[in-house]
Amino acid sequence: MENPFKYGGVVRGPYFADRRNEMNELKREMVNLNHVFLVSPRRFGKTCLLLNLIKMLERDAMACAYIDLNAFPDIKSFASALTSLTSKALETNKDKLLKMFAGLQKLRPKVTVDRDGTINAGLELAVDEKDALSALLEGMQHAEKLAAKKKKKLVVIIDEFSDLEKFNGQTIERALRSEIQKQTHIGYIFSGSEQSVMLAMIRDRTRAFYKLGRIMELGPIERGAYADFVQKWLKKGGYTVKEDDLKRIFEIGNDVPYNVQRLCNVMWDDAMETKAIKPAQIEKLPVIVAQQDSPHYEMLWHSASQSQKILLIALSKDQTVKPFSKDFQLKHGIGPSSSIKASLDSLLKKGILFKTLQGSYHFTDGFTPYWIDYIMKTIR
Ligand SMILES: Nc1ncnc2c1ncn2[C@@H]1O[C@H](COP(=O)(O)OP(=O)(O)OP(=O)(O)O)[C@@H](O)[C@H]1O
Ligand SMILES: [Mg+2]
Repeated sequence: MENPFKYGGVVRGPYFADRRNEMNELKREMVNLNHVFLVSPRRFGKTCLLLNLIKMLERDAMACAYIDLNAFPDIKSFASALTSLTSKALETNKDKLLKMFAGLQKLRPKVTVDRDGTINAGLELAVDEKDALSALLEGMQHAEKLAAKKKKKLVVIIDEFSDLEKFNGQTIERALRSEIQKQTHIGYIFSGSEQSVMLAMIRDRTRAFYKLGRIMELGPIERGAYADFVQKWLKKGGYTVKEDDLKRIFEIGNDVPYNVQRLCNVMWDDAMETKAIKPAQIEKLPVIVAQQDSPHYEMLWHSASQSQKILLIALSKDQTVKPFSKDFQLKHGIGPSSSIKASLDSLLKKGILFKTLQGSYHFTDGFTPYWIDYIMKTIR
């Protein structure tokens, strides 16, 4: 039987755990065509949730377009994708699509023919960069008109929305807002992990997205339901583990779905022979994960300066403490605060650490401290 604990990509169907409440909540919002900002730290499962939500909405005859802003380097390509994906969500007939695209002003159709002769209608912009924004608005107006004509509710999901800043920022925000407010057939979900960026966009009175919709903070998967999911698969594979022992997986993984999946995946392989999972075996799992990813951590380690390394070692032992406190500095023999500040800033910039909204610092990848601990032991 294949390992049922998938990680790294999008998990679907029987491999997707719980999220029933979140799916139902988002569905309610989209049935009402609202605007929702979905925010969470990285690897909490936003993308997986959204792609599984689409399946659910489509079963209820809603049309859905999913756009990952990461994939589009400029407004031109974003405008093109948005127009193309929303149109295709609402109209499946290729001839009608082609006709529709031909009628657009700022976007011109690009037709490709596959080897087997199938015609594909795509969209490509025929405008200069300076007209890209008006093309985007044309695409949005087109989607609204088409949804009205088809008498369908359209849900537009924009993932990695904090990336919007890489386009010309505030101008595009204002243009998007004014268009979105006019629409009456489209619901939006804007999803992002750069919490400070996302929240600044929505909470800052001077910004265009201020109060355009509600913020939904995605938390971890509910432990009870997640534990049932894990137990169900273990049982299917003939494994046994005590309920209480399994709890450690969620503690070690800080309830981050990616971490939990990763630990379970390793547990499955590690216990393949005995099938009876013991507490000591569970404690070893994060170290196995860290060893598997060693080349990645080694690169990260080599990119750090000596003072950054010292700070990382200290933080790996003491994650809960504030690094500027006297206690922390004395205990680990580091300081002064100004040099700690410089190291922290650089580690934040590299994405090795992240700062919570409450101001504490954490490892972006929860297995990093296990790797640091492991190499510290091996070099001693
Ligand atoms: N409901 C779930 N069931 C099982 N695994 C999940 C679930 N949600 C997330 N995961 C695990 O977490 C990993 C990361 O999920 P996902 O990519 O959706 O997170 P994200 O919040 O979109 O992250 P990022 O902010 O980095 O884009 C998945 O590859 C999967 O292993
Ligand atoms: Mg994602």
